[in-house]
Amino acid sequence: MSLIPTDSQRLVLHKRPERGPVTDETFSLESISIPDLKDGEVLVRVEYVSIDATMRNWLNPTRSYMRPVEIGEVMRAGGIGRVVASRAKGFVENDLVFGTLGWQEYWLGPAKHLEHRQTPRGGKDIDHLGLFGISGMTAYFGIFDIGRLKDGEKVVISGAAGSVGLIVTQIAIAHPKCTVIAIAGTPDKCAELEKLGCHTVLNYRDPNFRKAFKKVGLIDVYFDNVGGEILDMVLAQLNPHARIVCCGAISQYNAKTPYPLTNTPSLIAMKASMTGFIAFEYAARYSEATTYLAELQSKGSIKYEYHLLEPRQGERNGLGRCTEGMEVVYQGKNYGKTLVKISGNQQSSKL
Ligand SMILES: NC(=O)c1ccc[n+]([C@@H]2O[C@H](COP(=O)([O-])OP(=O)(O)OC[C@H]3O[C@@H](n4cnc5c(N)ncnc54)[C@H](OP(=O)(O)O)[C@@H]3O)[C@@H](O)[C@H]2O)c1
Repeated sequence: MSLIPTDSQRLVLHKRPERGPVTDETFSLESISIPDLKDGEVLVRVEYVSIDATMRNWLNPTRSYMRPVEIGEVMRAGGIGRVVASRAKGFVENDLVFGTLGWQEYWLGPAKHLEHRQTPRGGKDIDHLGLFGISGMTAYFGIFDIGRLKDGEKVVISGAAGSVGLIVTQIAIAHPKCTVIAIAGTPDKCAELEKLGCHTVLNYRDPNFRKAFKKVGLIDVYFDNVGGEILDMVLAQLNPHARIVCCGAISQYNAKTPYPLTNTPSLIAMKASMTGFIAFEYAARYSEATTYLAELQSKGSIKYEYHLLEPRQGERNGLGRCTEGMEVVYQGKNYGKTLVKISGNQQSSKL
């Protein structure tokens, strides 16, 4: 039997950011005593948390697909961890679990909020937050259910070197006879995307981007991770019956004023569609996506990367890097999925 910790550090929402990025004042660090477990509860040591662009939206007190995080509440985040103690049937010490574990060292709550995870031989635990996590699910259902991708189509992906985009891009490359155009924000990322086999790669920060984008010609499917100006450019270049997959709008989440789209009338003329979706709504079909992605991976058709932020030297956990994780995503410093390793050298001190 392992030692049970007595206290846990966590980051709670302190002050909502006003129309802009998170700041040093947004979250505050606090320490709490871990209460005794009640029947049906599990205590989990949080190992890794996912950093997602949409976390910025959870800080706004507005109506969305999820309620906002409240002042004083632990910052919400998907995570994986190991069971430390359990008074719930089916959960034993050291089980690997997935859940909304939050920015904290230990999660304690009813077992019904946790899902068991098994990492296949040769796999990585962090894949449960990346390729086989929400990013993979979003990519698969977005491109196939919403994008209705067909053989031989021309597909454009923005945010193509991000967590979701990197998977969508490789699904499209593997799809028969598709022409794949990837958009990202640095020369290094563009070089990596070229190596993966994209037909065209464009850097949206390049001064000639607009001109280069026109040369892409007419588009059948646009997987939109960024919204704003790039979305407006795509709207002007749609093929008849084109599909725009509204996955995310990262260019807008921190924007002081929303980008004014001017080309939406082309949806009418081109009989095209622009459809939003939330991956969580496909939970009943996640195994279908996992099987598909595992097969692509085993054939070598998906290479996936992580941008991992680990606890700083001398710090007892990785909480000090969570806010930085959000900066990484918004400044485009990541290639693939951004994660923070939370578990570090925190002491266990009570039996
Ligand atoms: N609908 C759903 O269910 C669902 C699920 C998950 C995620 N999402 C959304 O999908 C999008 C991608 O998520 P993700 O997890 O793949 O993100 P991510 O890994 O965090 O990557 C986001 C990337 O977006 C790029 N970016 C940042 N600011 C930008 C801007 N102003 N204009 C253009 N590109 C910008 C950056 O790369 P560059 O270097 O290329 O700028 C950054 O690396 C997000 O908008 C997210 O909210 C939706």
